[in-house]
Amino acid sequence: MKITIIGTGYVGLVTGACLAELGNDVFCLDVDEKKIAILNNGGIPIHEPGLAEIVARNRAVGRLQFSTDIAASVAHGQIQFIAVGTPPDEDGSADLQYVVAAARNIGKYMTDFKVIVDKSTVPVGTADKVSAAITAELAVRKLATETTFSVVSNPEFLKEGAAVEDFMRPDRIVIGCNDDTAGENARALMKQLYTPFNRNHERTYWMDVRSAEFTKYAANAMLATRISFMNELANLADKVGADIEAVRHGIGSDPRIGHSFLYAGCGYGGSCFPKDVQALERTARAYGQDLLILRAVEQVNDRQKHVLGNKIVERFGEDLSGKHFALWGLAFKPNTDDMREASSRVLLGELLGRGATVAVHDPVAMAEARRVLELDFANQPEALQRLRFCENQMEALEGAEALAIVTEWKNYRSPDFEQVRKHLKAPVIFDGRNLYEPTVMSDIGFEYYGIGRSV
Ligand code: NAD
Ligand code: UGA
Repeated sequence: MKITIIGTGYVGLVTGACLAELGNDVFCLDVDEKKIAILNNGGIPIHEPGLAEIVARNRAVGRLQFSTDIAASVAHGQIQFIAVGTPPDEDGSADLQYVVAAARNIGKYMTDFKVIVDKSTVPVGTADKVSAAITAELAVRKLATETTFSVVSNPEFLKEGAAVEDFMRPDRIVIGCNDDTAGENARALMKQLYTPFNRNHERTYWMDVRSAEFTKYAANAMLATRISFMNELANLADKVGADIEAVRHGIGSDPRIGHSFLYAGCGYGGSCFPKDVQALERTARAYGQDLLILRAVEQVNDRQKHVLGNKIVERFGEDLSGKHFALWGLAFKPNTDDMREASSRVLLGELLGRGATVAVHDPVAMAEARRVLELDFANQPEALQRLRFCENQMEALEGAEALAIVTEWKNYRSPDFEQVRKHLKAPVIFDGRNLYEPTVMSDIGFEYYGIGRSV
């Protein structure tokens, strides 16, 4: 099938590459000329395991192309996926300007029936706005009554770092269609497109458009709630002398609760949970409902991002000037170079803000971290000078009062602790992801601070 993907970011590029891999003829559009140039030169603008191979293979056989040509992109696909960003507005609601701009472009150039698929995470009611934007452009061209289209909601549930695997083997596919004639046509095309994913068993949940839009926010809000819930309990466990890891096993074994997404840590980051929790809360507010739970989820997470900083201050005092620390892990989670809302940025703000010097390491996100942190500290150039990027994780430890761990990359899971001790000034670890066993650490002579593990 001929598919256009509008927005070649994390979701757009993965969607485009994976749909090409399944034999479709895919045209990926982006307004970012630099991104398109990188892709057309055989590069990949993001770090995502397995993606480069799929992109190269499908480009080579001409099933996957990248362009900034809007008219050509509209002409190409009978199905047009909108996968542009929906960042938070000033008040936390989803900013739909990129979605609406993409819709307008479709309306400006379309000449035959199109299925427009909202793949971006968008608030309930957005499909109507996309429809209105297209209709307005068709009206300008005096085609509003002749040229038909249907807007479908098909939210994406992939996780960064496992995006290709998640896309290729989804737990579920959610598709919301209208039940008019155009909607029925759209449903048939979507069914055909997703046939390869439903071979062994049916994974598609068909529903109305609004419910599909809502499902995406409900899923992210539920996952974020589980994390904040565990983080609150972990902080209490620290006070009462219980081990949150034992508690996690104890409750997760109940199939009604399950084991996933119960890991306490130094807060959730990334481009989605923080913005989607906020956006759902703002939607509720617009309808006169105060979503108390989600306000708490957000507040707990904001507080949790300070938990390592607070533990360090408790141990070393408010004034950290003249003190040197090591930090392992900058990306918001392992297997990605994404720094959006990463907890490392909050910890660095605290340590550098209190006068410390910090040496940091991340196996993949160093270049992106440099870019982002230069912006974070643009008004504090002096603080930025106290930050050092190290290519080697052991080198980052040299002479540090303590090591803080923010991201659970595999290569931090079982380091040579003798080497760690040798490089650090004193054997002190603040572990924001509970990578190590407190008893083992104390047996080998480390002063160890986990999250909710003060048994
Ligand atoms: P991203 O910022 O990585 O990519 C968005 C791309 O859209 C950018 O390259 C931008 O230049 C491009 N763009 C903006 N306006 C455009 C236009 N008018 N025409 C063409 N291109 C345009 O964003 P992302 O992380 O891929 O997220 C996209 C959407 O998918 C968001 O709504 C997000 O919430 C949702 N989502 C993201 C993930 C994830 O893991 N990142 C997972 C599921 C859903
Ligand atoms: C999340 C969802 O998992 C995806 O299903 C969804 O499609 C995506 O958001 C989205 O809408 O963009 P992602 O943000 O890529 O995916 O990564 P997650 O693995 O969910 O992790 C998010 C954050 O939560 C990370 O900072 C991670 O460290 C933290 N986390 C996760 C915890 O603190 N504890 C856990 O138990 C799990």
